[in-house]
Amino acid sequence: MKKIIIAIDGYSSGGKSTFAKAVAAKLGYIFIDTGAMYRAVTLYAMRQGIADDPAAITAALPGIRIDFRFNPQTGRSDVYLNGENVETEIRRIDVSNRVSSVSSIPEVRAKLVAMQQEMGRAKGVVMDGRDIGTVVFPDAELKIFMTADPRVRAERRYKELTAKGETVSMEEIERNIRERDRQDETREVSPLRRAADAVLLDNSRMTVEQQMEWIDEQLERFG
Ligand code: C5P
Repeated sequence: MKKIIIAIDGYSSGGKSTFAKAVAAKLGYIFIDTGAMYRAVTLYAMRQGIADDPAAITAALPGIRIDFRFNPQTGRSDVYLNGENVETEIRRIDVSNRVSSVSSIPEVRAKLVAMQQEMGRAKGVVMDGRDIGTVVFPDAELKIFMTADPRVRAERRYKELTAKGETVSMEEIERNIRERDRQDETREVSPLRRAADAVLLDNSRMTVEQQMEWIDEQLERFG
């Protein structure tokens, strides 16, 4: 099969990363979690005390370096912020609560979209996010839009965070997911929406194995 770009978009906590990672491993492709990049910028802004100041965040952008480095212990890539591994910290609920407002800043998007386009230039990538099929790679060979029931998404997120030892309530998670969906769908610059040519995957009641069977069917047309 010739190398293609697989763009995966959808709502928060819909299992995009789990699915994208599995697809990348199966194909020997690079997996890029673009949400991690927006989270890293948000973490930087929070540490500087400028998370509520779009002009200050824009001014700080040249000093924010983000990259991914392979972690042999986990077998996946971790995100680095100015040389520091922030993979765990960026998943915290306080970062989740602020990331949608930081990601609505046009200058932040311009910088990260340009980086993402560069990362996918050689193809052979699975990229997940909110605007991959619409803005980052409108010509991606395979576009997938993932959805799942909000309650199912909240339960998954709850299990993930409590397994890591974070103290959160289901209510807080549901509120966060609802609010991020709303902000992501209504922002002016590249809002979350399904590309006209994206195939829909509702994984509310699907196991990862069933999702892998589904992707096999999708990939058949690429030979
Ligand atoms: O995918 P994840 O939930 O980690 O993304 C965190 C946030 O980053 C999203 O809620 C959204 O506000 C933003 N994001 C975005 N565009 C992307 C990926 C993520 O705006 N391509």
